[in-house]
Amino acid sequence: MDSIFKKSDTYTMNTYKRFKVAFERGRGMYLYSYDGRKYLDFLAGIAVNILGHSHDVVVSAIKEQSEKLLHVSNLYYIKEQADLAELLVKHSSCDRAFFCNSGAEANETALKIARKWGSDKGKYKILSFKNSFHGRTIATLALTGQTKYQEGFGPFPEGFDYVEFNNFEDFTKKVDDKTVAIFVEFVQGEGGINVAEKGFIEKVYEFCKANDMLFVVDEIQSGMGRTGRLFAYEHYGVEPDIITLAKGIAAGLPMGVVLAKEDVAGVMGFGSHGSTFGGNPFVSFVAYKVLNFVLNSGLIDHARQVGDYLLNGLKDATKDSDKVENVEGLGLMVGIKFKDKQMVDEIVNRAFENGILVGKAGERTVRLEPPLIVEKAHVDEVVDFFRRNL
Ligand SMILES: Cc1ncc(COP(=O)(O)O)c(C=O)c1O
Repeated sequence: MDSIFKKSDTYTMNTYKRFKVAFERGRGMYLYSYDGRKYLDFLAGIAVNILGHSHDVVVSAIKEQSEKLLHVSNLYYIKEQADLAELLVKHSSCDRAFFCNSGAEANETALKIARKWGSDKGKYKILSFKNSFHGRTIATLALTGQTKYQEGFGPFPEGFDYVEFNNFEDFTKKVDDKTVAIFVEFVQGEGGINVAEKGFIEKVYEFCKANDMLFVVDEIQSGMGRTGRLFAYEHYGVEPDIITLAKGIAAGLPMGVVLAKEDVAGVMGFGSHGSTFGGNPFVSFVAYKVLNFVLNSGLIDHARQVGDYLLNGLKDATKDSDKVENVEGLGLMVGIKFKDKQMVDEIVNRAFENGILVGKAGERTVRLEPPLIVEKAHVDEVVDFFRRNL
């Protein structure tokens, strides 16, 4: 693998601090490196590989569509895109879809829609939460409530402000008559696996309804069944005006989606937005097959059950540890928060050496986001690792 590391370090930009491994293939819950080691995948490409690796549904969809048609253009009608849009609309609070290629692009699009919707009313200010993460473009960095991602990239577009998570008073303080939308991550992923309180979300939602503000939800990490519901917002009894999706939507192929209610989507007329690749026949067909499988295979209930099992297992395994502050999560989005940030790298690296892939979130959290196909036996192995090492 040394030659791979050397070539990569020579020819690609230094934007990623990589683990010293390159994977040759994957099957189910496991990845296999070029030097023949086997890794249990509890990160799923950061919440992307929801069906694990080389799942039959994904492989056969790729084969089937790649032999027919990969790409045309949004200048023409695309059957596969229309089928996917219909399925997403039928299973969400929204009425129309726009397709792009990544999470950042989906949020960028949602920002444009919100601004356009507010433009006649003189509203343009966007709120998001401290510790949120919404992407790496200039506007989605402005939306991201963490200065560490923003340093050196300013100046940013105006009209963004950040609210304390789970603090309704702070939210009302930050709103004024120019505020058009709030972007919500129900479980902050990159920010450290922080779960929003139900009462708080209900109040924010009611406030938005009463004050002509859009309630926008970023389900890029939490969507597609990961939290034990198709969308995390279903846990909170709210009906978002806009939903953004990416990551797991096509189980490993790049796709971003923005869903919006009819009156909101209606502000985007011909020529107001576009994407060359967005929703092409190939990715749309795979995403359709993935979503269909997720909806009809019992996988979402499975994710909820195994997620609870993981959360409870980790809580029990770490209850006597003086290193752990708490274990928090929803479904298969689970974090172990440490008292000391040094511990996080140490544990993530030790897990890696033991053939278990987990990730870091925020400063002090180890995050576990396995594929939705994970079984209790895999959880037992991982919980046992933490029990022995904490
Ligand atoms: C909640 C959330 N929003 C947006 C993004 C950005 O997605 P992408 O990396 O596909 O641009 C991420 C990625 O981690 C995310 O977790």
